Amino acid sequence: SALFGPSRRNSGGLDLSSPAVLAQLDLALAAVATPERSAPIVDGRERENQAAKPVLDPADHRRVVGEVVDASPADVEAALASARAAFPAWDDLGGEARASILERAADRLEADRARFMALAIREAGKTIPDALSEVREAVDFLRFYAAEARARFSQPVRLPGPVGESNELMLGGRGVFACISPWNFPLAIFVGQVAAALAAGNAVVAKPAPQTPLMAAAAVRLLHQAGVPPQALHLVPGGPAIGEALTVNPLVDAIAFTGSTATARHINRLRAAMDGPLAPLIAETGGLNAMIVDSSALPEQVVADCLESAFRSAGQRCSALRVAFIQREAWTRIQPLLAGAMAELSLGDPALLSTDVGPVIDEASRRRLLAHGGRLRHAGRMIGQSACPPDCRVGTFFAPMAHQLDNLDLLQSEVFGPILHVIPWEAGRLEQVLDCVAATSYGLTLGIHSRIDATIAQVIARARIGNIYVNRTMIGAVVGSQPFGGLGLSGTGAKAGGPNTLIRYGVERCLSVNT
Ligand code: NAD
Ligand code: ALA
Repeated sequence: SALFGPSRRNSGGLDLSSPAVLAQLDLALAAVATPERSAPIVDGRERENQAAKPVLDPADHRRVVGEVVDASPADVEAALASARAAFPAWDDLGGEARASILERAADRLEADRARFMALAIREAGKTIPDALSEVREAVDFLRFYAAEARARFSQPVRLPGPVGESNELMLGGRGVFACISPWNFPLAIFVGQVAAALAAGNAVVAKPAPQTPLMAAAAVRLLHQAGVPPQALHLVPGGPAIGEALTVNPLVDAIAFTGSTATARHINRLRAAMDGPLAPLIAETGGLNAMIVDSSALPEQVVADCLESAFRSAGQRCSALRVAFIQREAWTRIQPLLAGAMAELSLGDPALLSTDVGPVIDEASRRRLLAHGGRLRHAGRMIGQSACPPDCRVGTFFAPMAHQLDNLDLLQSEVFGPILHVIPWEAGRLEQVLDCVAATSYGLTLGIHSRIDATIAQVIARARIGNIYVNRTMIGAVVGSQPFGGLGLSGTGAKAGGPNTLIRYGVERCLSVNT
């Protein structure tokens, strides 16, 4: 069948072995020493109603990356009122013109790649390859939603009818979107939500995660410079209180949220208790993601894919592998390989190309992981651990670990970091494994490692999971090729970067004329 969608290329990679590329990145890293700044941006102007706070490097808390001024409730109100007034003109501009602006933003972001990579490294503790993927994904979202807007939001779709009647379906914006995003993809998800909402014709008020306000401010400035009207896109940095102020404001027509399942539920409850028009919530949330490995799988490939899926990005991906169900015969071969490979992982300064695993985002996160690790030590069997760098106390480092368990009793909700759980299973008990995966009620990602077609088909048929990966890693969904998002406790859809995403950010109006 034909490939879906308008033709478009994803952002290219960089040769990270090239001295010229690394020199450019070094320059950008040095430039971050001139502190970056984030503040509420309303109508294109920075507002400073509150005191500035430092933003620290999670790999080294002695390094100040920048400062942030949180939004006040008055900033939120002003941003929403301005967005509401700006919405009709931005919507009327049409998909074609909006697409051109978003494509210009993509070009500028790609050209300024080194600076945004440096910020991702310093503000979010991303390793160099992760920082590169972060910027590429943000560029891809801009171009993907631009192409979608051009294809679907430019002209009405003509529909059939009797002679003497014309029927048209028109796609347009909903109004004002509140975009609330997490810290773990501080550019890609922030830009992805904003780009989708803008492309569909909405005005946007965006709240980044409190841990990563700097990249968000840099992205909003870039979008304004590319031609997004300042009245159609505002930034309100802050924590849960600002998120709630947005959530309960009647000027908000819809919410795009990515973050934990608990926060999505809270937002849903707050919105449900409000009077006035019903505002949809697009929520992309957490996962308790499994990989199912049978005895036909290739042990070396399983180990490589487990390492990448569980520990890349310090396990701080919603898509990351949390529980590997490995058939007993395979497990006896895989266990020593996995333990050996984990001992070789290099944990440390994310700005070094030799680093495999950087810090976790903050002290609260490290403490949650330490507490879970303590429970595991008590209950299970440690099967592998990486070493912490000697000076790990300057940042929030948590050494990857793997534990063998008998069941999921200790894992009732998402554990967000580099901890892998392994549960061996006996031949003939695949259905029980699938019951166990279903019982989590999450449905984000699933990995399968098997060379038996019937087994693969059995798993796919049973699993109610948004993204299934066979004989490969289970992270790093590619915009336009692997629309990303989960089911059940993992989210409402629409998937990010897919053929049906943009329609969920818009409204449909049908016009029937007696000609
Ligand atoms: P979080 O739920 O704590 O916060 C997410 C955002 O919601 C932040 O901007 C935060 O300030 C805001 N927020 C927090 N409390 C709020 C409240 N009461 N009202 C309104 N807004 C509020 O999540 P996090 O720790 O920033 O991110 C990690 C989580 O995100 C993990 O659960 C991960 O699985 C999930 N995630 C999911 C996807 C996906 O596509 N499914 C992608 C990335 C991350
Ligand atoms: N889209 C991100 C991934 O697939 C979360 O890893």
